[in-house]
Amino acid sequence: MKTTRRRFLYAPLLLAGPRALAQQASSGLTFRGLEHNREPGFVVPEGYRLNLVIGWGDPLTAGAPSFDVNAQNGAAQSVQFGYNCDHLGYFPLPSGSDNSSRGLLVVNHESSGTGLMFFSYVTATPTRDQVDAGLASVGLSVVEVERTPNGWVYVQGSQFNRRVTGETVIEISGPAAGADWMKTSYDPAGTRVRGSWTNCAGGKTPWGTALSGEEGFTGYFGNLSQLPPGELRDLHTRYGMTAGATGRRWENYYSRFDIPREPNEGFRFGWVVELDPYDPSSPPKKRTALGRVKHEGAACRVAQDGRVAVYTGDDQAFERVYKFVTSRPWNPNNRAANRDLLDEGTLYVARFNEDGTGDWLPLIWGYGPLAPSRGFRNQADVLIHARLAADALGATRMDRPEDIEANPVTGKVYINCTSNTGRTASGPNGTDRANPRANNRHGHIIELVEAGDNSAATEFRWSIFMLCGKPNVREDQPTYYGGYDMSKVTPISTPDNLAFDNLGNMWIATDGMRSTGTFGVNDAVVACPVEGPERGYARMFCSVPPGAEPTGPEFTPDNETLFVSVQHPGEGGTLGGTVVSNWPGNSEPPRASVVAITKAAGAGERRIGS
Ligand code: FEO
Ligand code: CA
Ligand code: CA
Ligand code: CA
Repeated sequence: MKTTRRRFLYAPLLLAGPRALAQQASSGLTFRGLEHNREPGFVVPEGYRLNLVIGWGDPLTAGAPSFDVNAQNGAAQSVQFGYNCDHLGYFPLPSGSDNSSRGLLVVNHESSGTGLMFFSYVTATPTRDQVDAGLASVGLSVVEVERTPNGWVYVQGSQFNRRVTGETVIEISGPAAGADWMKTSYDPAGTRVRGSWTNCAGGKTPWGTALSGEEGFTGYFGNLSQLPPGELRDLHTRYGMTAGATGRRWENYYSRFDIPREPNEGFRFGWVVELDPYDPSSPPKKRTALGRVKHEGAACRVAQDGRVAVYTGDDQAFERVYKFVTSRPWNPNNRAANRDLLDEGTLYVARFNEDGTGDWLPLIWGYGPLAPSRGFRNQADVLIHARLAADALGATRMDRPEDIEANPVTGKVYINCTSNTGRTASGPNGTDRANPRANNRHGHIIELVEAGDNSAATEFRWSIFMLCGKPNVREDQPTYYGGYDMSKVTPISTPDNLAFDNLGNMWIATDGMRSTGTFGVNDAVVACPVEGPERGYARMFCSVPPGAEPTGPEFTPDNETLFVSVQHPGEGGTLGGTVVSNWPGNSEPPRASVVAITKAAGAGERRIGS
């Protein structure tokens, strides 16, 4: 009798029997959803298996030192897996294949730690080793991973393994390269920058490179209040640069983090970085054509004529949703021809009209108010000060747009607006139809359909797909789950990262359910069909340990494995002080790590951690 070894995370479409075929109008999701919980470990449903792939401090290169919390410095950390893993991109090996058992993970490291990264940490006076370890702990990792009978493992010493840190030289490319605002004492030409950090969500291009969004970069540049009043100070204020000392005090040792001493350095952050994981010698590039905002991520979708759209949210309360469209189609037959495709194109910002239509407003110098009379002298000004350009164009101010993804089956685009408690019922910060709830503590998800299903379109239609919160809690009303019977859903809050499986089901990673202001339970990855009779039927697939948020959910091409980053487990505690979690071990420190979830052949272990 013919048997199959494939173990999908949902009922596989192609292997469906008559009964399953009858269910194909539904989602194919078969797992038994979890309940909200405060479990100490990482929890997956019955029948699924979890294994740790790699965690903070694990050695990447052949000679890298093993993790030692008491021996941290820049040199060690720069050859080890970084801190606070976020976005995950799986790139099959070899390049161009759909191999789902061997590939490269490109991992964002959103932030360094302070009191949860080091023992004996003094906020105002970190040591040089602590600062250097922090600088080396951010950015990206590329790491080869392989599926074995015992689960997924990473390959130490792989020729592909590399780190991009806060010190890696990165090219600045596109229209803002060489602009006056981009010039510093280190880089008088304005074309090379040291480092990338606050790498949050990201994306993958059709030609097999990784995109990484630089998000909350302003927290790393300090002492803005010491700048004299004027244009420069206003420009940095609009992005929220730190008025006094920063939380990490990198400025104690390096002048580039001290705004009065190096006032233009901050303009060199807030970009989307492109990295080719298949070529370890290739320089990462900051693609300035995509604009400078607090990029949550960068999700690609190919338009009908082969041009590539990149959707990106500016994650701050009342900021906007953007889309970049390349000038040229991508070339599926010549990878090298796509190398600098992202340097030419049009950046748009979204206006969500009250009647359910929407417009992509172009950020083109000379268009409408984007002119010298409003302070824009050239296209570089428009891109470097993209928030000001969006202000001038009247783009819709959203409730913290985080991850955006296009459904690979339907082409519809989904936008996670994670929350905005500053939204008011009326006034300048008042509700609108796209951000319909005052004190929006649970967030919502918008469904966007491009005109003609064309990602290069300049018009769209939109509607609310989900208003998060508990359907039975009066303060959360109104709630809405795609029209599904809300008594059957697992309520969610604060949708952050997004992924889709091959059947077009949405997988949502929450960041804030742990807050006492929302549910006070562990954050989770929630699966939710978006079409058919189960549209809006949200069910919890896995939950992360206390203090953590799940980030970067990413499937292998065959959907047999779901990778999840566990970011900042134990947040709220300090080493040697309050313990919130020591996951994945039983003693300090907790370590942000990547896990792989697969369908278990047998019973399988359900949890990691104490
Ligand atoms: Fe880095 Fe918006 O989460
Ligand atoms: Ca995020
Ligand atoms: Ca995503
Ligand atoms: Ca987050």
